[in-house]
Amino acid sequence: MAATMERSEGGQSEPTGEEGPTPVERMTVSLKVKRFNPETDDKPHWQEFVVDGVEGTDRVLDVLHQAKWYQDGTLTFRRSCAHGVCGSDAMVINGENGLACQLLIQEVGTSITLEAIRGLPVIKDLVVDMEPFFAQYRSVLPYLITSDEPGYKERHQTAEDRERFDDTTKCILCAACTTSCPVYWGNSSYVGPAAIVQAHRFIFDSRDEGSADRLDILNEKSGVWRCRTAFNCSNACPRGIKVTHAIEEVKRAILYDRV
Ligand code: SF4
Ligand code: FES
Repeated sequence: MAATMERSEGGQSEPTGEEGPTPVERMTVSLKVKRFNPETDDKPHWQEFVVDGVEGTDRVLDVLHQAKWYQDGTLTFRRSCAHGVCGSDAMVINGENGLACQLLIQEVGTSITLEAIRGLPVIKDLVVDMEPFFAQYRSVLPYLITSDEPGYKERHQTAEDRERFDDTTKCILCAACTTSCPVYWGNSSYVGPAAIVQAHRFIFDSRDEGSADRLDILNEKSGVWRCRTAFNCSNACPRGIKVTHAIEEVKRAILYDRV
């Protein structure tokens, strides 16, 4: 147990010997969730939950759990790791894409609106069908392509070579970037920022031999030239990946035939 501290004349803190728990600041949070069940509803509607959150520790995911566990078990959303790693709880939080497990309620405010990410079909409430997104991901050949067999040896590369694609290795495929892109909302055949990020990760890997194929795929109508450099993708990325920069690098690699 930590002893409480008192300020001395010199401004320094000294222990008083008194013990006590750290005070907890509670926040009443209004959570408005856009709900939609395509099997029973003609159109979406908003439902409000009033929940009690703890300032400094509770995240949007925690108050969502409270709403589901204690008020309405039919409220539907995805989450798995709860630590910003699996990418399953991307949603529109007060109008902007983010991960519910990553944002503290004190950062978001006491009035929170939650909607499903845009541009993908809603299955129920905050859960969307990710299959179109993963089909676009698969279309860019997101794996190492080589012609030789390394046998028992490792495939070496220098630290500089590794650094070349370091940023795009951080992607967790949450879809926050792709579903914040106005071009993607208007044209779902656009491969989208996340698929380009995943392609970038291999295009600029010195060990890979599939760059020409990937650049051909991304040079097609549904590829990088759909990007209008809106920067929504970079702003939305919970991993801080410079998504627009990665797209620009892929565009330059196509234009100048150089990786
Ligand atoms: S680039 Fe960022 S926002 Fe896009 S899918 Fe990857 S982690 Fe999510
Ligand atoms: S639940 Fe895994 S990233 Fe949020």
